[in-house]
Amino acid sequence: MNIHLNTHLSTQFFYRAMAVLALLLNPYAMAQTPLAAQPLPYQSAHQTLGTVTCASSLCHGAIKTWHGSNVLQNEYITWSRTDKHAKAYNKLLNTKSQLIAKNLGLKQPAHESKICLDCHAHYVPEDRRGERFKISDGITCEGCHGPAEKWVKSHVAPDATHATNIEDGLYPADDAVARAKLCLACHYGNKDKLVTHRIMAAGHPRMSFELDTFTEIAPKHFVVDEDYAARKNVWDGVKVWAIGQTIAVASTMDILIDEKRGRDGVFPELVLFDCHACHHAMSESRWKPKNAFGASISPGLVRLNDGNLLMLRAVAFAVEPALGESIAAQIRRLHRAIAGDGDLKTEALQVKKMANDLIAAISNKRIDASTIRRAALRLVDDGLEGYYADYSAAEQAAMAIGSVGGFLGKQAGIKNVAAFNLGMLKLNDALANDERYKPAEFEARLRILRSTIVP
Ligand code: HEC
Ligand code: HEC
Ligand code: HEC
Ligand code: HEC
Repeated sequence: MNIHLNTHLSTQFFYRAMAVLALLLNPYAMAQTPLAAQPLPYQSAHQTLGTVTCASSLCHGAIKTWHGSNVLQNEYITWSRTDKHAKAYNKLLNTKSQLIAKNLGLKQPAHESKICLDCHAHYVPEDRRGERFKISDGITCEGCHGPAEKWVKSHVAPDATHATNIEDGLYPADDAVARAKLCLACHYGNKDKLVTHRIMAAGHPRMSFELDTFTEIAPKHFVVDEDYAARKNVWDGVKVWAIGQTIAVASTMDILIDEKRGRDGVFPELVLFDCHACHHAMSESRWKPKNAFGASISPGLVRLNDGNLLMLRAVAFAVEPALGESIAAQIRRLHRAIAGDGDLKTEALQVKKMANDLIAAISNKRIDASTIRRAALRLVDDGLEGYYADYSAAEQAAMAIGSVGGFLGKQAGIKNVAAFNLGMLKLNDALANDERYKPAEFEARLRILRSTIVP
């Protein structure tokens, strides 16, 4: 069962490594409101008006940015010309998608199947579509900013504020938790939608996602400057990374214990497990008596994909070492429960609770240079201790180090930025082909990278 699971991440890493921190710290440290309870755009009860509503040249469809305006006003041009979200529906028409639909035995072609449209378009029920709604527009402005029925007029009123817009149904994409839920719904999956092992086996590319990295590599149609900070929440990249990890872990736990989602016939949903636990050559024995969390496992068992869990652990250690210890112990219990020793639902719910508690701890914490350095060193040192034996964990670690390292660079925490960037490129090279991933090689490159970080 040798398959090629590689992604196109190396180019993404490249951009990320080069992109020296674009987000600014908010000097006014606005109070964080619990915005994450807002329904996701596809769940909203409001009408979706359609992209053309936003696209007039006086609104967001200007060819050039406007001086003297709070926002760029050429967002539509950026989105329609360069943003992959605008093309996501079109991808369902290509031969690859036709093949996936055929392999899955779907009754309709991919571009008419809910199972695909859920993530490749802003797919809302018929009765919530305005006259100018077009499914072929793909993932539209309203797919991320929320259906505009109630806010389209009011958001341009002179007295409109971000808070009043949100009351009218604008999705709070500036809030890190809300943004994590938005992006991860499609880039990872949730209770409503998921790229299952079946869909992958039918030909869907494997997915990888890290919130800060992907926020950075998406074509920018907004600028985080002082004016933005006066109106909205600004989160530094390290918090965005950390919160993205906690939400990904919480989603995994939800899917794992969901009766409907967590199983595929008699088997558990394999997409939650480490792909290479099954997909590797038999001649190449990878099994180790203990996993990264020190949980004893028997040979031949399928391992949970613990890339995000490892990141959660690193986040917790950076925030507070004691918290790191207790989260690591809980994850060990989860691993044991998956192996049949303990109650899976109890342990998964406890992991989810700890992940959610961590969000509060991260949000309230001032992320200072020493916390960031602790996070960066922890990420590297975990690797040197052999924690990234699985490709998916190494991939998460590399994105995290790129993200945290970019921030550390700003704080004079990197001895030589050019050497660090080169080290990142080398690290990403070691991930270029997941089938030929060699943990020892990855570790050797981590060691070089470590020497560029101020101890
Ligand atoms: C849970 C959300 C989700 C579902 C469900 C889903 N996709 Fe995707 N799909 C994605 C994401 C996200 C990507 C982009 C992955 C990346 O680039 O990191 C993607 C990528 C793809 C690609 C590759 C596009 C390219 O640029 O080469 C194809 C083809 C595709 N999907 C087809 C389908 C089909 C057909 C279905 C239905 C059977 C489907 N997808 C269901 C989220 C989803
Ligand atoms: C994939 C998700 C996504 C899509 C699609 C999307 N946006 Fe955004 N947009 C964001 C995120 C994330 C931000 C930054 C957080 C915020 O300010 O809400 C943002 C910010 C903005 C801002 C705020 C700039 C500021 O200074 O306050 C405007 C205006 C905007 N987008 C307009 C649009 C328009 C118009 C479209 C469609 C042509 C669009 N967006 C499509 C995710 C998206
Ligand atoms: C409704 C589902 C959906 C939402 C919400 C969504 N995405 Fe996507 N995203 C996709 C799909 C599907 C693709 C692949 C499109 C393609 O290849 O044609 C994609 C592609 C991307 C890419 C390009 C990746 C590459 O391979 O080059 C980036 C970056 C990205 N998304 C970031 C984000 C971020 C950041 C957010 C949240 C602010 C977000 N997305 C929200 C579905 C979604
Ligand atoms: C418990 C073991 C197991 C895990 C874990 C697992 N798979 Fe599979 N996978 C299988 C089996 C069994 C098949 C069917 C093989 C066949 O038909 O010969 C398969 C088939 C596939 C195929 C179709 C190609 C083929 O060889 O048939 C792809 C692609 C695939 N898996 C991707 C993945 C990805 C990506 C992951 C991780 C997210 C993953 N798998 C995790 C067992 C697993």
